[in-house]
Amino acid sequence: MHDQAEKLRQIVQTTREIPRSRIIKNSSGSNARVITVTSGKGGVGKTNFTVNLALALAELDQRVLLIDADLGMANVDVVLGCSAKYSILNLLEDQYTLRDVVAEGPCGIKFMTGGSGIYHLANLNTMQLQRITSQITQFDNWADIILIDTGAGINQNVLNFVMAADEVIIITTPEPTAITDAYAMMKAYVSNKGSSPLNLVVNRVLTRDEGQSVVDKLNKVATRFLGQTINELGFVYEDQNVVKSVKNQTPFLLAYPDSISARCVKKIANRLLYGENNISHPRGIKGFFDKILRLW
Ligand SMILES: Nc1ncnc2c1ncn2[C@@H]1O[C@H](COP(=O)(O)OP(=O)(O)OP(=O)(O)O)[C@@H](O)[C@H]1O
Ligand SMILES: [Mg+2]
Repeated sequence: MHDQAEKLRQIVQTTREIPRSRIIKNSSGSNARVITVTSGKGGVGKTNFTVNLALALAELDQRVLLIDADLGMANVDVVLGCSAKYSILNLLEDQYTLRDVVAEGPCGIKFMTGGSGIYHLANLNTMQLQRITSQITQFDNWADIILIDTGAGINQNVLNFVMAADEVIIITTPEPTAITDAYAMMKAYVSNKGSSPLNLVVNRVLTRDEGQSVVDKLNKVATRFLGQTINELGFVYEDQNVVKSVKNQTPFLLAYPDSISARCVKKIANRLLYGENNISHPRGIKGFFDKILRLW
């Protein structure tokens, strides 16, 4: 397992040595921003938030790739209402290219089920790794933003996706159990020497004050006990349109574009693009890949 990871690191290293002038960059001229969405507690709304955030960013002219990294229960496709026929591992077969494993979703967003496939990379041989790596790294040219939806809990797989990203969004609800688990995720991040900004979204709030008090609470304990400041990205209100849209398998941003939840997510997308806490030099998918291999 260790040798495989070492081989793959070397391959990623080689890929990185392509002269910068030969790399066609995305519209902003830099690497894609890789953003992992996580929570600690399950069922707090990660998948719904991530899918709708992807659409809101696409409406702001961003080229978005959405990766489902929920190893146990991948369900981005269910919420998105469109599925990918193939997974990342199909790239090992001659007849498949990146275009086959990436599905086209609404508003031009691209979607890939990558989680378990990425996990299996550790068991592949050098040629197989080379093949996948050379394809995957093209994402830096394709996308402005890569959003990764993770599974529930704070296990090593989820942590690897969190630690390897350029940026992290932690979702909680106002429930004490969700807040405690969000804090546990922050603690795990800091103990693993994470140094990117931690963005916080409070989902299912009933009032602005309720959301603000969750942010204040988490900010206070994170600053005091972890020395980590939290960047408040915003709130999403409790909204029955979210439940309806899950049932109808149409993201609420499309089914109910004027709903309170859709407006909240659009505001968060704006903050993510134009807020003060943006990373100026994202490491992109190559940097992400490189880091995740070090963590294996
Ligand atoms: N803002 C909201 N208002 C009302 N209901 C919501 C809201 N956000 C999420 N929900 C409800 O919570 C359910 C779970 O959401 P979702 O599947 O996105 O959570 P998750 O964090 O991805 O779960 P898991 O940890 O299992 O992956 C949704 O099906 C929906 O019914
Ligand atoms: Mg989910």
